[in-house]
Amino acid sequence: MKAVIPAAGWGVRFLPLTKEQPKEMLPVIDKPVIQYVVEEAVGAGIEDIIIVTGRHKRTIEDHFDHSFELEAILHNGNRREHLENIKNLCNLANLHYIRQKEPKGLGDAVYQARHHVGNEPFAVMLGDTIHVSDVPVVKQLMEVHARTGKSVIAVERVPGEKVKDYGVLDAVKVDDRLYQINDLVEKPSPAEAPSNLCIAGTYVLTPGIFECIERTKPGHNGELQLTDALRLLREKERLLAWEFIGKRYDIGDIQGWLNSQFELALKHPQYGAQLKAFLRDLNQKEPFL
Ligand code: G1P
Repeated sequence: MKAVIPAAGWGVRFLPLTKEQPKEMLPVIDKPVIQYVVEEAVGAGIEDIIIVTGRHKRTIEDHFDHSFELEAILHNGNRREHLENIKNLCNLANLHYIRQKEPKGLGDAVYQARHHVGNEPFAVMLGDTIHVSDVPVVKQLMEVHARTGKSVIAVERVPGEKVKDYGVLDAVKVDDRLYQINDLVEKPSPAEAPSNLCIAGTYVLTPGIFECIERTKPGHNGELQLTDALRLLREKERLLAWEFIGKRYDIGDIQGWLNSQFELALKHPQYGAQLKAFLRDLNQKEPFL
């Protein structure tokens, strides 16, 4: 199965940080966000990945390419561990890049990958969402798809007031963690939301979605929403949702990024203990807890 990683958005919520720097390249401890996403795909056995970028996203391509000068410096300085690390980045997977010419929304970004994907089911993994899980979340979806042949979306329950930031489902539970989708709505107000079961940012879709994107009209924010295309797909095919097993970190805004950074750093084998000691010390001097 191929994966499409939409990474073309402007990262407006992060300005001025993302004026020149793609939000997908923001650090989470010692790696950029998109590296976690690519590694999740690779961990699920996906070898062919299409990253949908834009004009201001060149550093993404550079990150997964050779840097001969740096490799020579590390080689000559006998910094083997770093050398292996950066060399491995070039061989993680077959990465392909397509540029979205105008930022027209997530649906349009996915549509850019249609020729490369062809007539096969494929995964969509948002470039600003990372997971910690025993089984990669995308793999969990691939397994549901293998069992059912249907499109399946990773979902999670969020607190009521947060539904306005997500695609939200009207769905019925059909099995453990598995739902059949009746309807979807992009970023509703809490009063309009059909539930608090939200689209978490990973999908396995049948290729029928492309024709649905063609018929989709601009929606929330005037953009072509993948959620609206999924509404059309649901008229043709059964759509499933999977309450994934694992923890999701939403790097989509500064608060989410900061929280993720802290939580993951506290758990990190190399940095966690010192960060805890630092926070304890800080709390003693300037109590915040
Ligand atoms: C996108 C999707 C939304 C989904 C969310 C998950 O929105 O449009 O349906 O719930 O990702 O993060 P965005 O966060 O790009 O505005």
